[in-house]
Amino acid sequence: MTRRLGALVAIAAAAAAAAGCGEQSPLDPQSGPARDTATLWWWLFAVASLFFVGTVSLLLVSWLLRKREGIPLLGKSPALTTGLVVAFGMVVPAAVLVATFVVSDLVVIHKTDAPRAATTAMTITVTGHQWFWEVRYGNTTAVTANEIHIPVKTRVNLVGRTADVIHSFWVPRLNRKIDLIPDHDNRILLYADEPGRYRGQCAEFCGLQHAHMSMYVFADPPERFQAWLDNMKRPAQTPATPAARQGEQVFMSNQCASCHTIRGTPARGEVGPDLTHLMTRTTLAALTIPNRKGYLGDWVLDPQHIKPGNKMPALNLSGPDFRRLLTYLESLR
Ligand code: CUA
Repeated sequence: MTRRLGALVAIAAAAAAAAGCGEQSPLDPQSGPARDTATLWWWLFAVASLFFVGTVSLLLVSWLLRKREGIPLLGKSPALTTGLVVAFGMVVPAAVLVATFVVSDLVVIHKTDAPRAATTAMTITVTGHQWFWEVRYGNTTAVTANEIHIPVKTRVNLVGRTADVIHSFWVPRLNRKIDLIPDHDNRILLYADEPGRYRGQCAEFCGLQHAHMSMYVFADPPERFQAWLDNMKRPAQTPATPAARQGEQVFMSNQCASCHTIRGTPARGEVGPDLTHLMTRTTLAALTIPNRKGYLGDWVLDPQHIKPGNKMPALNLSGPDFRRLLTYLESLR
């Protein structure tokens, strides 16, 4: 019985993992460049499968006929044997490798290349940090983290850079990956055919919490995107309630303000994410936990438990101060 239960749990876990992968599967493309990449993958898979099946079949035949002398149908001819080795050992592999090189490196890579500036409607700059993504919109004041909004069916020029080590920006359903390299900008086209949420992941090992460095791209209908961007451009509102105002004081008089920026307040830290509109985000800590009641408190209480190695310390606030701080943070919309 326990064994059957264990098997059921394993199947459920595998299904859940597969569903999670589906959210960022390169084989479920939602843009032109991602479709080109997926098509290339299927072709490479088909060619590789053909060769795999062919090789295994030949091995099988040679094993089954191991007691017979010579090659089936061809007999014992040294010239033919040499011919087969040259054909299948050199000519065919060389031809296939050249063909796949031409298709992948000369055709598909160009189709997924950085877009020409004149062909895009807007620019978003994404800066990789250990371990979150800082997101800025063109020359506007809008700053957010980890959750990128773009208008659907709009060509967006994404500029990738890093504040520390090498990261890699990858939203598999929308395009290939680009590395974020110190002192060098890389660009990529961000485009989505359909409104929706597209998950991405840092694709270059960048330290202890590399695995907890994910991001969402939300492709919104244009009006919704514009409303979101207009809100993001605004500084934080002055807290409306006395508790929130006291919470703001807690934020400013503790370490919070030296690491985080809240636009419109004296908090100008640049170590952690911009918190001006914290509650517009659906997740915390680069998608590690949902941004729902309870989780934010857990995070502030003990960030090292949730994401060991990140730069945020536990503040050891008194109970009342902790609650005021949360009230203030939850007012940042
Ligand atoms: Cu950032 Cu891996």
